[in-house]
Amino acid sequence: MRISVIGCGYLGAVHAACMAKLGHDVVGIDVDSQKVAQLSGARAPFYEPELDALLTELEASGRLRFTTDMAAAAGCEVHFVCVGTPQKRGENAADLRFVDAAVAGLAGYLSPGDVVAGKSTVPVGTAERLAELIAETQPGATLLWNPEFLREGHAISDTLRPDRFVYGVPDGNEDHPAVAVLDQVYDAALSTGTPRLVMGYATAELVKTAANSFLATKISFINAMAEVCEATGADVSRLADAIGMDDRIGRKFLNAGIGFGGGCLPKDIRAFMARAGELGADQALTFLREVDAINMRRRTRVVELARELCGGSLLGQRVAVLGAAFKPESDDVRDSPALSAAAQLQLQGAVVTVTDPQALDNAAKRFPELPLEPELDAALDRADAVLLLTEWKQYRELDPHATRALVRVPRILDGRNVLDPAKWRAAGWTYRGLGRP
Ligand code: UGA
Repeated sequence: MRISVIGCGYLGAVHAACMAKLGHDVVGIDVDSQKVAQLSGARAPFYEPELDALLTELEASGRLRFTTDMAAAAGCEVHFVCVGTPQKRGENAADLRFVDAAVAGLAGYLSPGDVVAGKSTVPVGTAERLAELIAETQPGATLLWNPEFLREGHAISDTLRPDRFVYGVPDGNEDHPAVAVLDQVYDAALSTGTPRLVMGYATAELVKTAANSFLATKISFINAMAEVCEATGADVSRLADAIGMDDRIGRKFLNAGIGFGGGCLPKDIRAFMARAGELGADQALTFLREVDAINMRRRTRVVELARELCGGSLLGQRVAVLGAAFKPESDDVRDSPALSAAAQLQLQGAVVTVTDPQALDNAAKRFPELPLEPELDAALDRADAVLLLTEWKQYRELDPHATRALVRVPRILDGRNVLDPAKWRAAGWTYRGLGRP
């Protein structure tokens, strides 16, 4: 099929590449000419495992190209809207400027029978409004809402082999001809049994926000348990292992630590609360305020624990922060818990050095005043305390003996509860976890 993908960020670039991988003829469209130039040279403008290799493979196929010209969407049968919906400055609500501009720009190039598939995470009610906007220009085109559930770091496999497809269709009509068009796009996964659920626009929009809210709640739940564990000397990791064996609960997303960040979970729960307020249903989501508060408290707790670890004052203490990305296998530093703790430590007088295998360029843009060091050993050099804040594999696998030889004082704060405390203590370290004795 001929496909356009509007917006080539973390979501769109991966989606465009994966659609081409499936055999479709794809054009990716973005307003950022630098991004388009990089993608056209088969280089991803961000770090995502295996994406560069996929782009290189597809460059040779001739099925994938990138442009800044929206006119390239003309003649495509399916158009995926993949632009960002960041948090509005100074407000909880989502900023829909990019979605509105993408749909308005696209509308003039649509033909009868075309399908526009919205993938961006939007407040409930947006699809209805966008469908009207499209109908004013091209009444023969149909808008579907087709939310995306990919995780950064696993974006390619999540796109090619998702758990499920969700189609939001006008009036929830399963027989709408646009359903068959989108089925054709996803034929490879559908024919191997991936479930596909058809529903109305509002439900489809809510599926995405509800899923992210649930995940955020699960993380904050276990972090709240970590607070209780700290007050009682209990171990939150063992607690999570034990409750997670009940398959109604499940062990996934029960890792207590410095909490969640990134471009999705934090802003999505806030936008959801803001939207519920507009709809007069704010009471239903007041618990999300608590979820947000528990999460933000973890960052403060890490700074407090680091101060305790350093003997009561951070002044002049050399602190090595391992990790800048909001999670491993990503260079994304949006709302990164690691960076926000590092900045706090620096404000409180610590001599901070941040290291990360992928995210330092982005970290430098967000926090230009934070000292960054690409080499792990150099970051650890003569440290008074080490803080593991993003659980990259190389940090999880650090050897306590070899690391001890580099630092000045062997103190470690395991902000993701991924190290074996007994092993580190046996090697002479003072070990602190979050919610662990
Ligand atoms: C999240 C969702 O998981 C995806 O399904 C969704 O498609 C995506 O948002 C989106 O809305 O686009 P992502 O932001 O890539 O994906 O990251 P997650 O893997 O969900 O992790 C979010 C944060 O939670 C990270 O900071 C991670 O370190 C933290 N986390 C995760 C924990 O603190 N504990 C856990 O047990 C799990």
